[in-house]
Amino acid sequence: MTTNHNQKFYEKTPDERRQLLGKQFGLSKTELAALAADASPAGNQTIENYLTDYRIPEGVVTGLVVNGKEYTVPMAIEEPSVIAAACNGAKMTAYSGGVAAPEQDRLMIGQVVLKNVANPYLFKNRLLKQEDEILKVANEAYPSIQQYGGGATGIRVRCPEDFVIIDLLVDVVDAMGANMVNTMAEAVGHWLSAKGQTVVAAILSNYATDSLQSVSCTLDFADIATDQLSGADVASRIADLSFLAQVDPYRATTHNKGIMNGIDAVMLAAGNDWRAIESGAHAYAAMEGQYRGLATWHVVGDKLVGKMTLPMAVGTVGGSIGTRQLTATNAKISQIKSAPELAAVAASVGLVQNLAALRALATSGIQAGHMKLQYRVVAMRAGATAEEAGLLAKRLAGLDHVDEQVAQQELSKMRKEQAHD
Ligand code: MEV
Repeated sequence: MTTNHNQKFYEKTPDERRQLLGKQFGLSKTELAALAADASPAGNQTIENYLTDYRIPEGVVTGLVVNGKEYTVPMAIEEPSVIAAACNGAKMTAYSGGVAAPEQDRLMIGQVVLKNVANPYLFKNRLLKQEDEILKVANEAYPSIQQYGGGATGIRVRCPEDFVIIDLLVDVVDAMGANMVNTMAEAVGHWLSAKGQTVVAAILSNYATDSLQSVSCTLDFADIATDQLSGADVASRIADLSFLAQVDPYRATTHNKGIMNGIDAVMLAAGNDWRAIESGAHAYAAMEGQYRGLATWHVVGDKLVGKMTLPMAVGTVGGSIGTRQLTATNAKISQIKSAPELAAVAASVGLVQNLAALRALATSGIQAGHMKLQYRVVAMRAGATAEEAGLLAKRLAGLDHVDEQVAQQELSKMRKEQAHD
């Protein structure tokens, strides 16, 4: 390889970049070969300064029933216990008919923000009167969406502090729609600048309050009972934990982290921008001024009832979705055909994920289940090969205390025993 020193880093080939970093940071031949082995031409077309594809494990949650239909949903996640918990939650809810997820209303919001408006409230009324003209400007900037039945459909105007904000409401059909909404918002921004207004920003809002998804489920006590605790006791403890997440932001954050474990993993496997969903979810969790748990659980008669509503501005077309073969394969597995269906299923995964976490917390504690799956990770960290990890994990499960050092000692014991066999 000849190195062209005048070339900027981003102009180099992935191999040149890897070699350069190899020299700079002392990467071994094996490390460089591993980076090269996972590299893909598509990845290099996608981002700047590309090196390789960073892979994480993908599995499926099975037996998830949503609106009476059974789903197998791909989830991409590195945390060992998430898919196991999702399957557990899916199974518990399926006994009593699964999750109900009414089809969401779906509009995205593009913000056009103005400042230095002489009389904001007078101007607001003028803008509202010009709604048709504003929508025309937006739709002319992205006409192709109208052939799919979408487009800019309305505006709202707000005046917080010294700003005037036009919320442009856009039906993006099955797309995530970020590019579309940004293009439309910028067009409206330019139109207003040309009229002498000072435009501060023209950009999509990820606080997708016009794309809310609600999910709910009702469980029989019998389906959540454990060997040690009656279903009624488990239900009442889950309801306590749910209340705790309404009043204590420290617990609410972890409660919601568990929900997003499931939703993010589905989003990633479906090629969606999971950061957009994350930020919208957390903003919604704080909409009353205090950050709260997104899902709530109540005992109603002899049932446990779970409910959750959150913004789910998801897509099944557009963005990076079409550029990855794996995303298309995952859509075949999930059999999800539209964005509203993806929103319903992903939110349902979030709800059952929360159920499984709260039930574990309310009964044996999280670590009991987690550690069984964690042992494999500890085994790998201690240097076990993929073949050795299963056996070592079993041996670790039988010990009172496990950490990386213990796992290393156990691994060398295991290897010695195997050498003698
Ligand atoms: C771990 O990733 C998520 C949990 O902590 C969620 C929760 O506590 O509700 C188990």
